[in-house]
Amino acid sequence: MPRLPGPKSTSRIGFGTWRMGGLRSADSVHDAEETRAIGFALDHGINVLDTAEMYGAGHAEELVARALAGRDRESIYVITKVLPEHLDRDAVARSARASLRRLGLTYADLYLIHWPPERTEMIREGIRAMEDLVREGLVRAIGVSNFGVREMEEAMAAASRTEISANQVKYSLRHREPEREVIPFCEDHHIAVIAHTPLDRGGVADLPAVREVAERTGHTPVQVALNYLVPRTVPIPKATRIDHLEELLGSLGWELSAADRERLRSEGPPAR
Ligand SMILES: NC(=O)c1ccc[n+]([C@@H]2O[C@H](COP(=O)([O-])OP(=O)(O)OC[C@H]3O[C@@H](n4cnc5c(N)ncnc54)[C@H](OP(=O)(O)O)[C@@H]3O)[C@@H](O)[C@H]2O)c1
Repeated sequence: MPRLPGPKSTSRIGFGTWRMGGLRSADSVHDAEETRAIGFALDHGINVLDTAEMYGAGHAEELVARALAGRDRESIYVITKVLPEHLDRDAVARSARASLRRLGLTYADLYLIHWPPERTEMIREGIRAMEDLVREGLVRAIGVSNFGVREMEEAMAAASRTEISANQVKYSLRHREPEREVIPFCEDHHIAVIAHTPLDRGGVADLPAVREVAERTGHTPVQVALNYLVPRTVPIPKATRIDHLEELLGSLGWELSAADRERLRSEGPPAR
């Protein structure tokens, strides 16, 4: 079973916050319903929240802070990310402190490089700066996002004091590319795989094999598609609608049979 780095016990699915609080600039129009959705997820046993300095230019982190208010910090796992253009030493320190200020937290459980920088050498500088954050207690673990195997090797070579302990990648039944190289590599190196865009924004429900398995097992297509990801990854779906969230919660507490997993695996788009 995949585990997120650190001693906390974490839910098998997490909760994403991209498109909450705006896109690349802050938008407060939906603050109330988005904060309520995050709170609903926490109330119903999801204790992993994924956010980033990029989301709504930091406003998503502020919404996470609102949803966290009055809750037990030690039972919640918060992931946030630094932009690849902020990887020089001072910028990493500034970004992390600004994220923590917006989140209203003294530490993040996991801090990721959001995607690979254009200049590979910046991976090294960023990872070393992130190791300093671990030493200072501002983040508990570090990792990467959207990194391929070569880029992960680069990050691992740069890390001398801390493990690269997670890679967050786009992975769903409509995007199975990580099954080829990235997931096996992560499994070999005890790196947690976090599956972003795990519903393909709802598109997974249209796959014929997903619909067929859903009908046969009495679960919904979205639940089947999410359940498929759980044994090897921690998927982090996002939902603002409460009925969507309720449906996501129903993806847990049961397991696809080996035959149904194989049916989904063989009928999905090939993992090129
Ligand atoms: N590291 C990265 O580069 C990266 C990139 C993309 C995403 N992410 C992370 O991954 C998270 C998830 O990805 P995502 O938000 O892009 O896509 P997603 O989780 O695949 O899909 C979210 C969309 O699916 C809808 N949805 C949720 N539950 C549903 C259900 N039961 N039935 C039908 N539709 C449903 C949501 O609608 P409503 O909101 O209207 O309920 C929303 O429009 C993000 O929020 C973010 O935290 C990371």
